[in-house]
Amino acid sequence: PETGCLSIIVLGASGDLAKKKTFPALFNLYRQGFLQSNEVHIFGYARTKISTDELRDRIHKYLVHGKSDSEHSEDVSKFLQLLKYVSGSYDSVDGFRLLDKEISEHEISKNSLEGSSRRLFYLALPPSVYPPVCKMIKHCCMNKSDLGGWTRIVVEKPFGKDLESAENLSTQLGNLFDEPQLYRIDHYLGKELVQNLLVLRFANRFFLPLWNRDNIDNIQIVFREDFGTEGRGGYFDEYGIIRDIIQNHLLQVLCLVAMEKPVSLKPEHIRDEKVKVLQSVLPIKPEEVVLGQYDSYRDDPTVADDSNTPTFATVVLRIHNERWEGVPFILKAGKALNSRKAEIRVQFKDVPGDIFRSKKQGRNEFVIRLQPSEAMYMKLTVKQPGLEMSTIQSELDLSYGQRYQGVTIPEAYERLILDTIRGDQQHFVRRDELRAAWEIFTPLLHKIDDGELKPLPYKPGSRGPVEADELLAKAGYVQTHGYIWIPPTL
Ligand code: BG6
Repeated sequence: PETGCLSIIVLGASGDLAKKKTFPALFNLYRQGFLQSNEVHIFGYARTKISTDELRDRIHKYLVHGKSDSEHSEDVSKFLQLLKYVSGSYDSVDGFRLLDKEISEHEISKNSLEGSSRRLFYLALPPSVYPPVCKMIKHCCMNKSDLGGWTRIVVEKPFGKDLESAENLSTQLGNLFDEPQLYRIDHYLGKELVQNLLVLRFANRFFLPLWNRDNIDNIQIVFREDFGTEGRGGYFDEYGIIRDIIQNHLLQVLCLVAMEKPVSLKPEHIRDEKVKVLQSVLPIKPEEVVLGQYDSYRDDPTVADDSNTPTFATVVLRIHNERWEGVPFILKAGKALNSRKAEIRVQFKDVPGDIFRSKKQGRNEFVIRLQPSEAMYMKLTVKQPGLEMSTIQSELDLSYGQRYQGVTIPEAYERLILDTIRGDQQHFVRRDELRAAWEIFTPLLHKIDDGELKPLPYKPGSRGPVEADELLAKAGYVQTHGYIWIPPTL
């Protein structure tokens, strides 16, 4: 790995994303020895005029979150010492010159070690300011080439609101930075079981012959939250559940479930295959979409009284290729539902010429539970133990909590930030992927924006509109009755 000075600059340092995700992830990396005190310096940059100590105070509580005070207090204070705050606006040369001066001073003082000028800019900012900020970085803050190193930019969704605005943003950033310098985060790609998909699919003989239209009936990729848009109504109302969850997080998961085997594990090879899947998705049919909005959504003062924004959506995608023709990929996401979980559910076809049919509870399913309680399990029919010849639905279960006791599963952001430092773009969204993702959803989104499609009301704490379950059944999903999987307790 590279050594020498590493500067991590968090822009939007006093905002929510920085406090809740970025700084805690950096802290965890530090605590585990991935950020060395003699190499790393962290800069916070924002408009608010506060001192470095005030910034330290503000993020302190997010670092100790959930832990007993004494557990980490020494690490916390050492970590906070690495932090320096610089205030300035997002489009002023003065602010960014000052920032560059601070970074450079640090690079020089650390260079008694070994020359390197590695600069990681993390934009914890609304996308509207990405272009001016990137311009300023390019003009004032690039790494010092005589010292070597690099400059990298980390950005996060929303990348635009539709194909046109996203392309526009991509072009503006692309004019300033090359693709290998740009890291578009989709934090679902940092989740343990999402990262496992590639291994599961391509390192196991079990799945190779089954993973296709001959054996699989339908695939669901589901995201549910049991809370509403509390406190984020303003942001959410402008975007809705499709832009917030489906077009990015669930579609990324779909790519990994559906793609062909990449030539190798090189990031470009993997991303090439993901793009092909996206390009093979057929236009969405309005009759294969159910939208919902929970009853009290518009009570939020930051939400428009006549808002047409969906907080729930079920969308069937169809992939037109040899492997998947005819297999519905059902993407479902909702807020204010009856449970919180994210999972992939692969449902197999019925056994041909089945002699047990009248006795069976349900079909074979392979479920990958992304969260909470990471697990994968295969639902299968076995003989009910005992003297009678009867069948019962059971499961082969790999529950992480039980199988990997004492192993801490890293936070998505931790892993992804480490990748940006190491220069590994595998788990980041490439520009052509982003474009292809917007191409799929833009026509549908425009219909919703124009009020042509309307969300159905549903009760908070419910399963969402019943029409969504009807669509699921129409697409071919068969619910298993009288069976639920109960995660094992330790
Ligand atoms: C974010 C969305 O990207 O993901 C939020 O903007 C959502 O609306 C969140 O709550 C869910 O992330 P996770 O990791 O908790 O599933």
